[in-house]
Amino acid sequence: MLEPKECERVCICLKRGIRLIHVKILPEKGEGNGAILCLGWGFPDEQMKLLVVGDVVGKVGRRMLKSAIPVIRTENDVDMVVANGENAAGGNGLTHEVLDELLSSGVDVLTSGNHIFDKKEVFEFLDDIPAVLRPLNLPRSTPGHGYVVTSRHGVPVAVINVAGRAFMPFSYDDPFLAVDGVLNSLAPEVRIVLVDIHAETTSEKSALAWYFDGKVSAVVGTHTHVQTADERILPHGTGFITDLGMTGPRDSVIGVKTELVIRKLRTQMPVRFETAGGPGQFGGIIVDIDEITGLCRGLSRIFYTE
Ligand SMILES: [Fe+2]
Ligand SMILES: [Fe+2]
Repeated sequence: MLEPKECERVCICLKRGIRLIHVKILPEKGEGNGAILCLGWGFPDEQMKLLVVGDVVGKVGRRMLKSAIPVIRTENDVDMVVANGENAAGGNGLTHEVLDELLSSGVDVLTSGNHIFDKKEVFEFLDDIPAVLRPLNLPRSTPGHGYVVTSRHGVPVAVINVAGRAFMPFSYDDPFLAVDGVLNSLAPEVRIVLVDIHAETTSEKSALAWYFDGKVSAVVGTHTHVQTADERILPHGTGFITDLGMTGPRDSVIGVKTELVIRKLRTQMPVRFETAGGPGQFGGIIVDIDEITGLCRGLSRIFYTE
């Protein structure tokens, strides 16, 4: 017989969209006819795997991304690919053509950062393509949007893109407040939430991750283009890495031809930067998320060079 307390729990779980396992149909006689007795919650193997790729820089970065996605996707049962594309078009911004190339390479959601507005044609599509994000914590009147809720096999996934304030070129609003605002507005069934914090300082990224520990699935850092080896699951279940690293030219200063950066630093004169060519590198992470709780179950950092 279904105890009143059990019945209440089943109703609450069904309301929240939580699927039941080990269900037992009560016999068709006596009290509790037709009721379902839940002996467990969720499917043990239900998980959402996100491949999250660090700043894709120029042609080399796009080539690395295109060759990596199918292999990583197949070998790791990846459900969704999120990549930071702020430097994808010649090192700065996005164009129609580059966006098409990234999406056809298998990218599902593109995050960005301070370089998103570098190419003017981005204004032609930023408002209309939900899969392309700009930092959330900009004025309301800024074109584009800072988060998206999409889904995989019927499970909603929110991706939020926010920028840090320390040593960043724009006057961004408070990223903590901005992310809190989105979390408060999400429907209860949206339990999987990925945050890309595009920021210069390790401390700001770390503080944001700790603040949202247990409230989001993972916080990943972008912008500095150098991968950090500090991936971990925080005490309340949020996955975190300070920076995913760059997917772009290996022999460069964060994507730019080395000699140009050296010249600028040594002369202190204006130098036009050009994206480097040559061999590439790939930087990213696979975030394994429990679909039922929305919390992180594992992180697999990926970094390799040609
Ligand atoms: Fe970048
Ligand atoms: Fe950036």
